[in-house]
Amino acid sequence: MAETNELPDAPAVAREIFSGDAWAKAQAYAELLAGPGVVRGLLGPREVPRIWDRHLLNCAVVAEAVPEGVRLVDIGSGAGLPGIVLAIIRPDITVTLLEPLLRRTVFLEECVEALKLDNAEVLRGRAEEVAGTRLFDVACARAVAPLDRLLLWSMPLLVEGGRLLAVKGERAAEELEAAGDALRKTGARRAELVTVGRGKVDPPATLVRVFAGRTGPAGERGGGRRGPGGQDKRRRKRRR
Ligand SMILES: C[S@@+](CC[C@H](N)C(=O)[O-])C[C@H]1O[C@@H](n2cnc3c(N)ncnc32)[C@H](O)[C@@H]1O
Repeated sequence: MAETNELPDAPAVAREIFSGDAWAKAQAYAELLAGPGVVRGLLGPREVPRIWDRHLLNCAVVAEAVPEGVRLVDIGSGAGLPGIVLAIIRPDITVTLLEPLLRRTVFLEECVEALKLDNAEVLRGRAEEVAGTRLFDVACARAVAPLDRLLLWSMPLLVEGGRLLAVKGERAAEELEAAGDALRKTGARRAELVTVGRGKVDPPATLVRVFAGRTGPAGERGGGRRGPGGQDKRRRKRRR
C-alpha cells in the first residue's frame, strides 16, 4: 500500500502557539516545507506527516527561553528550523539564519520573502567564519553538532552574558557532561538544562543553555581559526 505523505491538519495547540498574524505564516511555512522543501531535498518526504509536531511545534517552544528584543542567530538553520519559526512567533526579535549550503540559503531567502518576515535575514556561511564579524545576544541550534563543537562555534558569536540554546532532547545531560573541556576553553559562565514546552509538546523539549563569558581582545572567545589581521583562514581562501 502506498504511504501517504500529506501535510496533516495542524493540532489544536498550534492555534494557541501561533496566535494572531503568526497563524497564517505558520501555515504557509508548513506548506513551503511540505512542498518545495521536500521536492528540493531539504526535508525527507516521511517528515511531512510530522511537520507540525516534530518540527514547527518543537521549534516554537524554544521561544520560551528567548528573552525579549534580542538579536538571535540560528546556527545551521537548514530549512529554517528553528529560526524561521522563531521569527514568525516573535516579531520582537531579529533572527539571522546562518547556513553554509547554497541550496538551503536559496530556500531560506524564498521563505523570508514569501512569509514577509521583516525581522529575519539569511547569512550564508559557517559559524566559524562569522566569528569576529558579527555579535548576537542568543545563538540557537538544532541537530547541527555535538555540544562541545557547538560551544566552539557559538561562544565567539555571543556578547558577554549572551546565551547558547542548544536543542538537544534525550541526550542533553550526557552531552553537557561530556562538554566540560569545551566549556572551560570557551570561557562559558554557566551551563544548565532547561525544559520548554510543558503541556504543549509531548515530550517537552530539552535545551542546553550556556551563558557566554567575557569577550577577548579581538572579540574572540575560542573556537575561531584566525590568521594575521584577525581574519578567518577559510574566509580569506574563499575570497580569492
Ligand atoms: C541536520 S541539519 C539541521 C537543520 C535544522 N537546524 C533542523 O533542525 O532541521 C544541520 C545543518 O547545519 C549546517 N551546518 C553544518 N556545519 C555548519 C557550520 N559549521 N556552521 C553553520 N552551519 C553548519 C548544515 O549545512 C545543515 O543545514
